[in-house]
Amino acid sequence: MHRFTSRGLAPACLAIAASFAVAAGASAQGSGKIKVGFMLPYTGTYASLGNAIENGFRMYVQEQGGKLGGREIEYFKVDDESDPAKAPENATKLIKRDQVDVVVGTVHSGVQMGIVKVAKENNTLLIIPNAGVDEATGPLCGPNIFRSSFSNWQPGYAMGHVLAERGMKKVVTLTWKYAAGEQSVKGFKEAFEARGGKVVKELSLPFPNVEFQALITEVASIKPDAVFVFFAGGGAVKFVKDWAAAGLKDKIPLYASGFLTDGTLEAQGAAAQGLETTLHYADGLANARDKRFRLDYAKTYKLQPDVYAVQGYDAAQLLAAGAGAVKGDMSRKAEVIKAMEVARVDSPRGAFTLSKAHNPVQDFYLRKVDGRENKPGGVAVKALADPARGCRL
Ligand code: BEZ
Repeated sequence: MHRFTSRGLAPACLAIAASFAVAAGASAQGSGKIKVGFMLPYTGTYASLGNAIENGFRMYVQEQGGKLGGREIEYFKVDDESDPAKAPENATKLIKRDQVDVVVGTVHSGVQMGIVKVAKENNTLLIIPNAGVDEATGPLCGPNIFRSSFSNWQPGYAMGHVLAERGMKKVVTLTWKYAAGEQSVKGFKEAFEARGGKVVKELSLPFPNVEFQALITEVASIKPDAVFVFFAGGGAVKFVKDWAAAGLKDKIPLYASGFLTDGTLEAQGAAAQGLETTLHYADGLANARDKRFRLDYAKTYKLQPDVYAVQGYDAAQLLAAGAGAVKGDMSRKAEVIKAMEVARVDSPRGAFTLSKAHNPVQDFYLRKVDGRENKPGGVAVKALADPARGCRL
């Protein structure tokens, strides 16, 4: 069954309270199907990211014959609209009304903060299939909070490392002003400045604003050695095109965490060619697991996979590890968590394990855009673990 809810939020509050009483006795926990609640963006600048995550997740489940731990999966869906203000209410719908066994969400770091809070209050299993907000596997870490993606710190740190090694000295950063951008810059700065570089200016604009022109002009006037940016989804398409249209593509080297060019290359076209980014995935990795994944994904969805599809696929693999250990009885929460904690996820990105804070410890690739692909150019930082500052697990 699919339930798609995104509007009518005030009446929904009352509906949640009313349905909770009914649903309380009807949970799937302990028997029947495993209830998975997707809380993802299906509209707005991150819509394609949400869809890719869901596609990846469903594909893994299909590969297992539609079952995890011997149980069928029942899906519930909420469009979170990348709106942090609606996050607590949306997460509550999935947890209280739909009584899901696990929430799989989300993409946007601000929305993630709301989901983490509600998941912790209700001790509901949460798998984060994208949002990098450092707090989720930092000060707000918890036994029931897992991530199949990355922390915002990680890809930024990897690129700071690369630019310092290349001898760059003076860098300007430009991002959306919210946790994903700010924490990416923090990671970048930490690695870059520790190796002798200097971030001379940090520029930003509100999410999901795409009026980049004034900021691009400001960057050009500073004449830095390079620019480091965080943008993703529809905003990333617009930024890369605006940067090229301003004539800066061959004048100021542009670097980014890989979200700038992942899932976006068809729309970015010539403007993206040659861009270098760091990420925990690349197109055309030399491993058989990835080759099979890419072929199956293209066959199933008539689309090329991207990092978001991989993260969704791996969220399902993590859940499979937990569900398998209890033969699908998700009420045995402590055993589910234990099995997920020690899982070795056979990911298309390369196999990974989780840190103590439940964040992937993984290689970060340096990639270069060539045609419609982010081609791997080697590993920028091997087995990079988020420092998980403030996590007590
Ligand atoms: C975030 O908000 O954490 C995020 C969104 C898109 C891509 C990467 C990170």
